[in-house]
Amino acid sequence: MCGIIGYVGPGRASQVITDGLKRLEYRGYDSVGIAVRTGKGILDVRKDKGMVEEVSSALRFTTIDGNLGLGHTRWATHGAVCRENAHPHADCSGKIILAHNGVIENYKKIRDDLAAKGHKFASDTDSEVISHLFEENAKTQPLLKAFMRTIGQLEGSYAIVALSASDNEDRLLLARKNSPLVIGVGKGEMLCASDIPAMLKYTKTFVPLQEGDIAVVTRMGYKVYLHDGSEAIRKQITVDWNLDLAQKGGYPHFMLKEIMDQTHFVNESLATDVSEAKRLIEKYDRIDIIAAGTSYHAALMFAYLLQRTGKGAQAFVASDYPFIAKPDEKTLVIGISQSGETADVLQAFRYAKKSRKIALVNTMGSTITTLSDCVVYLNAGPEVGVAATKTFTSTLAVIFKIIYGKQSLAGVSRLIEAMLAQENEIRKLAQLLALKENAFFLGRGLNFPMAYEASHKFKEITYIHSEAYPGGELKHGALSLVCEGFPVIVLAPKDDSLQKLFGNIKEVKARGGVIYSVTDDKEVMAESAFHLDIPEGTDPILYPIALIVPLHLLAYHTSVLRGINPDRPRNLAKTVTVE
Ligand code: G6P
Repeated sequence: MCGIIGYVGPGRASQVITDGLKRLEYRGYDSVGIAVRTGKGILDVRKDKGMVEEVSSALRFTTIDGNLGLGHTRWATHGAVCRENAHPHADCSGKIILAHNGVIENYKKIRDDLAAKGHKFASDTDSEVISHLFEENAKTQPLLKAFMRTIGQLEGSYAIVALSASDNEDRLLLARKNSPLVIGVGKGEMLCASDIPAMLKYTKTFVPLQEGDIAVVTRMGYKVYLHDGSEAIRKQITVDWNLDLAQKGGYPHFMLKEIMDQTHFVNESLATDVSEAKRLIEKYDRIDIIAAGTSYHAALMFAYLLQRTGKGAQAFVASDYPFIAKPDEKTLVIGISQSGETADVLQAFRYAKKSRKIALVNTMGSTITTLSDCVVYLNAGPEVGVAATKTFTSTLAVIFKIIYGKQSLAGVSRLIEAMLAQENEIRKLAQLLALKENAFFLGRGLNFPMAYEASHKFKEITYIHSEAYPGGELKHGALSLVCEGFPVIVLAPKDDSLQKLFGNIKEVKARGGVIYSVTDDKEVMAESAFHLDIPEGTDPILYPIALIVPLHLLAYHTSVLRGINPDRPRNLAKTVTVE
């Protein structure tokens, strides 16, 4: 998921583009680039890996003079994170330049055909083939026709913004299929971008392109065409958005946006290829799963599920792995890491020198991918909030795909939607918890890793002390803390552990503790001061997801009620690269 922005008008293109890139950064942030036409036939292209702020100031983007240009923030999909693979991409002549979001599925064939015709490629990306194909087509036909022909030859998904330095007009050429692209209609100036927020500073009037649209944007206006070249009319919309909110796609915090995004991203995660990982897991009897933070809770779940299939699987906190385990050739090591850069995980991976390694990771081209024999991508899109939410759900989805197969997970997106639909109830529960100083989260069996994760998220962003216990452990110590009004959140789906958990609920209530539950059981509901409901008929294999989605949202709302910014909890960082 990357971000695109284009500008044509009387203004300084480099300024508008750099500004827009900063607003698009949440979409992807491993590399960034800009191209501006500085004169007839001349382009100034600057790009590198890194964050927008650092690359744009190091390469002095805004010093480029010119009124027509485009920019891109990249979240790598094809090819490593490096300068060459950063967008925009030029053709052989250096006159045609473009930025692309999406995946060109037939890029290999196009690349081979063009290479046979003498085209030289500078990157490993699928995107670069588009500029060369455009160049090839432009040899025999006018620019717009050549662009349309090029788009017709592409298979896959794309949002494309292109321009030619030798064009007689100042214009941007756009195309959209399965990847968003919006035209921004200014006064005497025009923009285009992957989303509205990137353009809000300049206009409130927009034209969202539709699937298959091709468009030409000049300083004074725009024209939209269908694939057959006929003109199409597209509706303009006017938004009344506050710029700050809009940066987060209309949400007050990235964390909330990321929680809400899960209904979409979980499907992307389920589409990931797990075949090689599955084959390796089948071959090994001893499997060590290492991770840190939230990913460790996913590791626990993975280990529990593998143990149930008879495997010798164990989850390890990455930083402790070298002090405990002796991995050898007969050990399969699985690392789970959203960022792929957590130092504790990397050192544990390096420690397991003799073992085959699988990485479950969200970030393309991250360090862990270079240390692994097999990489499974989570496809959850970039996560900005420090507290991992959607990447955790995506990790669970990928683990479930490995264990149960994709067919069994058909209802997952609907289930997430149903749980998120209880937001008002969740907010009410947050109001009850926001004034407390402590909380316990209880779950048994497979629900314990979810209790662990729920408690972890709750404490890290609310600053309320909280602990998770397997229900059976309560009576061995922590029960002494339970007194009048003490809040205990029980993760109580109707599974084989519920009967025993019910006993724990009674223990808590007998001491004046207050039970809040996530459940689909009528008796648990009756015992609860407040309950969030798992839809009746939910497939038991999806219970962990039904539990964690509302509990992440509960942590979020409790945090906000306590006046904390959940996106940036004190003392914590998104990616921890020190041991
Ligand atoms: C940091 C983050 C956590 C995250 C952990 C592991 O501590 O604040 O949210 O779970 O790192 O990150 P990883 O990228 O390896 O999953």
